[in-house]
Amino acid sequence: MGSAAVQGELWGRAPRDWAELQEPKHAPLWHAMLEAAGVREGSRVFDAGCGGGGAAVLAAERGATVSGLDASAPLLEIARERLPNADFRIGDIESLPFADGAFDAVIAACSVQYCADRIAALRELRRVCAQGGRVVVGLWGVPEKVEYRTVFAAVRDALPEPPPGKGPFELSVEGVLPGLIAEAGLAVLARGEAACPFHYPTFELFWRANVAAGPLQAALRQVAEEELRERVRNALAALHGPDGSLVFVNTFQYVVAQPQAPHGPGVSTPPA
Ligand SMILES: C[S@@+](CC[C@H](N)C(=O)[O-])C[C@H]1O[C@@H](n2cnc3c(N)ncnc32)[C@H](O)[C@@H]1O
Repeated sequence: MGSAAVQGELWGRAPRDWAELQEPKHAPLWHAMLEAAGVREGSRVFDAGCGGGGAAVLAAERGATVSGLDASAPLLEIARERLPNADFRIGDIESLPFADGAFDAVIAACSVQYCADRIAALRELRRVCAQGGRVVVGLWGVPEKVEYRTVFAAVRDALPEPPPGKGPFELSVEGVLPGLIAEAGLAVLARGEAACPFHYPTFELFWRANVAAGPLQAALRQVAEEELRERVRNALAALHGPDGSLVFVNTFQYVVAQPQAPHGPGVSTPPA
């Protein structure tokens, strides 16, 4: 089973809770990425790992023509409700069903890290981006700037076996994402950060929003929900405000890149 099949199943278990309660908390990142990608009236925009379509809606509000792809059919249903005229497709970021150079702006917010082969995914983002266009990839900032790391740590500690892979911050470590982007044939142009505070009036609402996410759904294969919830609740005790609300101060990062001019084997470099 490829990563899209696995991830699509995980992210599609509680799609309304994800799309309505949690996904919108990424909005400051989406705004920053769309701005960095130069999205405006008439731009052809592709959102890779579009989830419930929140960023796609913002792109459409800028006057762009929007396409999106995700592994989760239930999330795509919500995206289609939100933007009936956009082209939303089910699929795998590692193998996109779009022509070379089809888009002026390609964004991928918090999705490339879930792909089994990140280089294949980034190469696909490059392939579908027009020469002179922009590819913008966003994800968690470095762990020290992400208070949500407490949740990840509590989930990891609750599991009898550590989850596979190098953890949620593998690509967030300084230099890793720009390195992968360069390896995929994209030239890094700029980098940026966006503050995305996660605020919840109660722990119960926090739980509904967050248990809808793929990594927590994966954890539920190993530990009962009641136990996981209590482990996380205890780990978050220090973050509760006096009114019982919860706030996580988080910084996300993004890298802005453009396809490098073709110069592979068989393509001659013009004389200087
Ligand atoms: C954290 S959510 C991000 C959603 C949205 N872009 C946002 O910023 O809120 C990750 C999304 O990536 C999708 N995804 C993960 N791996 C994928 C893959 N290999 N191909 C397509 N979509 C994938 C999931 O289905 C999920 O909707």
